[in-house]
Amino acid sequence: MSDKKPSGLEDVVVAASSICYIDGKRGQLVYRGYDIDDLVKNASFEEVAWLLWNGNLPTQSELDSLRHDLAVAMHFPRHLLEVLRELPFDSNPMRVLAIATATLGTLDPDADSMTPEANRKKAIRLTAMLPLVTTAWHRIRNGYDLLESNPEKSLAWNFLYMLTGQEPDDYAVETFDAALILHADHELNASTFSARVTAATLSDLHSSVCSAINTLKGPLHGGANEAVMRMLEDIGSLDNVDAYMEQMRADKKKVMGFGHRVYKAKDPRAVILEGMSEELGKRANDTKWFEMTRRVEEIFQPTVASKGIYPNVDFYSASAYHVMGIPGDMFTPIFACSRVVGWTAHLFEQYANNRIFRPSSDYVGPTGRKWQPVSER
Ligand code: COA
Repeated sequence: MSDKKPSGLEDVVVAASSICYIDGKRGQLVYRGYDIDDLVKNASFEEVAWLLWNGNLPTQSELDSLRHDLAVAMHFPRHLLEVLRELPFDSNPMRVLAIATATLGTLDPDADSMTPEANRKKAIRLTAMLPLVTTAWHRIRNGYDLLESNPEKSLAWNFLYMLTGQEPDDYAVETFDAALILHADHELNASTFSARVTAATLSDLHSSVCSAINTLKGPLHGGANEAVMRMLEDIGSLDNVDAYMEQMRADKKKVMGFGHRVYKAKDPRAVILEGMSEELGKRANDTKWFEMTRRVEEIFQPTVASKGIYPNVDFYSASAYHVMGIPGDMFTPIFACSRVVGWTAHLFEQYANNRIFRPSSDYVGPTGRKWQPVSER
């Protein structure tokens, strides 16, 4: 027995990985050796997916073949559509995504095959399907017709088109694509770890991705972006920010979108998203959400700097997505649409060198008790 408090596995290394590197003190994020700034400036999400899965940037023919495979996989199985149409219209979109992923497992011809080839095909199919499911759910719950994806266009273009029904402009596509790149992987974060824990029992890829989706949903992880939006809506206007934050401080409440287990500097993804949020606001002639977000940072950050608490990826993505016309409860599913690439890259790595995760706990419960019949309790 021990009185040591649970550590949340802080600083515990549970796997060797060649996918993603974070320097938390310098605020640096690197995928397969490439700095995130370099990738956001130059790559497409599809190229980053290939990079994370295979370790190298694709050649032109490899990229063409990936785009082709994704386009082929962007089709709604009739059975899945029937399942979604039976769900209550107010279902949480993250629950819907988990249900859809489990259902896709029942329909995938390779669902139970554990070969690297089958896992690769399944990863591509899920990467194509999660945006379809997310946008279709939004349309189904609002009574809109579903839209066909365009095989000539990128995943980012298709997401925005299928969600809104309008062809997005180039800047919106570029920004959304960059957001997908920024969310694609993040080392052993909670959802990736839970995917790897499930896979380590030699459970299949769909089941492991389901675990990850359910883990991402929580407000301490992927759900924080939606929570930031709720906070901004609660604040209502720039004039109210100071008083609202004073109340948060008095109530000792955590500010969502701040803090990180690994970063003790501003999250490099937040730096990029901040610029995007500002530019999107200007283009939409709706800078209010960006200005409120920045004011929250100005007021709150100095009060927690001594603890190494800075804005994280979720802080500025909320105002950016909002100005793009995306509903708040779609923010975390968007995170999943991107992170599915990172999850599956980690699953390939886990399956290739597997050992079951089985940590220990300190037993702090009672001992030596004797059985009492129910009449004597
Ligand atoms: N607002 C205010 N204080 C915060 C904070 C926040 N968002 N995040 C952490 N802190 C404080 C804690 O209260 C704690 O203070 P204490 O030492 O005085 O008790 C200290 O900073 C350490 O925080 P802790 O919660 O132990 O860190 P963690 O590594 O276990 O948790 C997070 C990391 C991300 C879960 C945590 O920072 C958090 O809850 N953030 C808000 C949710 C969020 O944005 N999640 C998305 C992450 S990408």
